[in-house]
Amino acid sequence: MTTPALDTLRLSLHVLAATVWVGGQLTIAGLLSTLRRLGPEAPKSLARAFARLSWPAYAVLVLTGLWNIQAVHPSTQDTLWQALLGVKVGVVALAGLAAWLHSRARTPGGIAAWGAATGLTSLAALVLGVVLAG
Ligand code: HEM
Repeated sequence: MTTPALDTLRLSLHVLAATVWVGGQLTIAGLLSTLRRLGPEAPKSLARAFARLSWPAYAVLVLTGLWNIQAVHPSTQDTLWQALLGVKVGVVALAGLAAWLHSRARTPGGIAAWGAATGLTSLAALVLGVVLAG
């Protein structure tokens, strides 16, 4: 069932979760040099605190993403839309994998590389979402 009110709720929850998952990463990246000046443990503490917000946001993105699919009826969309949805689902999975590897990385290079991969794939998912929503 779709009504204007339910559509608003569905997309608002999806976009709100995207602001936390994507916007939170960009904000932390932008604050990193200031954080480092607060002490060597500060970036790690903030990363742990952010994980307590970002993983629930990722779960909300997946759940509301499934709700989007149910509401939008992919079989009624054109082939390009369906292909882009497939790409988006893959990119979202890569973002989750990269974020998990980022949290487990122990070398500065590994932390930076998986952090960058998480940010880029998350941004790609955001742009693909905007394209899908039209
Ligand atoms: C990192 C994870 C994700 C991000 C950042 C993200 C972001 C977005 C954004 C910004 C929109 C546009 C909303 C609008 O303009 O109104 C959107 C739409 C959409 N997303 Fe996602 N999304 C994510 C995960 C998912 C997942 C896992 C699925 C599917 C399982 C999904 C399926 C969709 C669909 C089908 C739309 C179009 C909805 C419509 O037209 O009503 N998304 N997404």
